[in-house]
Amino acid sequence: MSSRDGDAELLVASSDAAFARLGADVIRGVWDDCPEGATILATGWTPIPVFRELAARHARRELSTPQCPIVQLDEYVGLEDSDPRSLFAWLDREFLTPLEVDASSVIRLRGTTADSEQECSRFDAAVAAAGGLHLAVLGLGPNGHVGFNEPPSGPNARTRVVPLSPESIASNARYWSGAEVPVEGITAGLGLLLSADVVVLLVAGAHKREILRRSVAGPESPEVPASYLRRVPRLIIVTDDDAAAGLTPEEIGSRHLPRI
Ligand code: F6R
Repeated sequence: MSSRDGDAELLVASSDAAFARLGADVIRGVWDDCPEGATILATGWTPIPVFRELAARHARRELSTPQCPIVQLDEYVGLEDSDPRSLFAWLDREFLTPLEVDASSVIRLRGTTADSEQECSRFDAAVAAAGGLHLAVLGLGPNGHVGFNEPPSGPNARTRVVPLSPESIASNARYWSGAEVPVEGITAGLGLLLSADVVVLLVAGAHKREILRRSVAGPESPEVPASYLRRVPRLIIVTDDDAAAGLTPEEIGSRHLPRI
């Protein structure tokens, strides 16, 4: 890993296995460097191999259960935890249970509360009481969303309920096997995500190439919410050859693009 201060570090994995290992190494390194402050975690397809690699290391006793508070990033509005398609159920399956994190200790963002304003305020206060965000592990939406901060979302976007964009609804349809996709999400605000000391952005696949380029090499814009991630003290992008193809070190302000 090498880059100038303030620039994104972009790490390119040369295979699926390398992507999983690299993501796990980076997350573990951040936890080891600073076990304090909370970690907020995306769900979705991209982090799964990374979470499975962390779980495998935990099963081999090479990695202990994370000591930091774990924070839920987003949820569909109206979905109960018991629904296997809820993002919390996804987090539980892929991360909490395999890494033996007590689900009741997680700072939750629920999509089923009657008063979503109050839920968002409670959530923000709970994250602050946990010492704030040290690490945010995020995926990149096909339209540049992070969490459910859909375009347009600016750097001060609050934790809130948002209508999902047609693009996100279409993209999420693959998880829903024909059932109607929820049209609203509740999400940690982009403003809160930008308060993290470290963001690890996981991006894989040729279909993310153009939006990755716009996120790291284009101008900051509410139309590409991920473009603001360059404001955090340390942004580490773990990607693969397909997503990183054509990106030059100059474009992202790095001296070189390590390929692992
Ligand atoms: C999910 C989330 C979303 C996803 C994004 C990419 O908790 O916050 O922003 O990270 O939609 O999803 P995948 O990884 O499925 O392409």
